[in-house]
Amino acid sequence: MRITVIPGDGIGREVMDAAMLILEKLNLPFEFVWMEAGDEALKKYGKALPDETLEECLKSDAVLFGAAGETAADVIVRLRFELETFANVRPAKSYRGVNCLYEGVDIVIVRENTECLYKGLEFEVAEGVTQGIRVITEKGSRRIAEFAFELARREGRKKVTALHKANVMKKTCGLFRDVCRKVAEGYPDIEFNDYYIDAACMYLVMDPKRFDVILTTNMFGDIVSDLAAGLVGGLGLAPSANIGEKHAIFEPVHGSAPDIAGKGIANPSAMILTACMMLRHFGYIDEANRVEKALEDVLAEGKTTPDLGGNLRTMEMAEEVARRLN
Ligand code: NAI
Ligand code: MG
Repeated sequence: MRITVIPGDGIGREVMDAAMLILEKLNLPFEFVWMEAGDEALKKYGKALPDETLEECLKSDAVLFGAAGETAADVIVRLRFELETFANVRPAKSYRGVNCLYEGVDIVIVRENTECLYKGLEFEVAEGVTQGIRVITEKGSRRIAEFAFELARREGRKKVTALHKANVMKKTCGLFRDVCRKVAEGYPDIEFNDYYIDAACMYLVMDPKRFDVILTTNMFGDIVSDLAAGLVGGLGLAPSANIGEKHAIFEPVHGSAPDIAGKGIANPSAMILTACMMLRHFGYIDEANRVEKALEDVLAEGKTTPDLGGNLRTMEMAEEVARRLN
């Protein structure tokens, strides 16, 4: 298995070292090819996503990505489009012993990853007048809806909730909602409902347990996944996978966190859980479970970085996890 490793910028580099410590320890047949992208790459090569990096991503079996800074749109958003990873899977789960708003939350957000306002179709049409185009297609909506229901079945989940704003964005969200409802008919074993995105945000904050699988469009998914991360302890704990027909990109939800970058205190959990998602993708279920269990124990013992109230450094926390894999 050939894995392109892109640490990127800021804490991306720090948490990638932490995750690699764990992956190396598992001794699996992975060949890691380290490549550059992000703000630093832009300074060095004049391109945030150098051609060699993109080529390597296209020919590898998966990409493991840390974080980009201000160039995120040109790097990770572009990579998701280029590699056609249409499904962005973002679990939000509360772990034992973590001081968070809610215990027992276990939500998976399935975000459409190739359409919507994030296509970047933005124009300045006149002095002081800008315009952005929101693209939602039937094919894209069906593909992501089917993915969400299949994920629900595979993971033994009971309910899929679609989020949209079809009362205002009648065409784009209307199409998305209608396709989701249609696809739901093919999965009578899975409960389905849909909410307007604004009300859903309130429900998420006040009563997150009414959600199981969340199915939504690109920008709403981006926003709601940070919100969901906030319910269970923050971005330091939020992993994600971008899945397509041919390619997969694994990355934590967080960015380069310039406020803490370089201090060695970033929480490596999101990146380690991201590595677990990659392991499961390749069928290394036992290995992924072992790593997640080790991390859970470390979290429960309060051996954490400062964002969760502990006093460990990034690598110290990763070493605690690695030690429990013996
Ligand atoms: P961010 O996710 O980098 O940080 C938001 C807040 O969460 C900060 O207070 C940060 O310290 C904290 N945080 C994030 N990850 C953490 C971790 N592992 N441990 C402890 N605390 C953590 O988002 P922000 O501040 O909006 O953006 C910073 C830069 O990152 C920007 O340049 C943005 O463009 C980029 N970005 C890149 C993304 C990507 O590469 N996928 C995603 C989001 C933002
Ligand atoms: Mg985001």
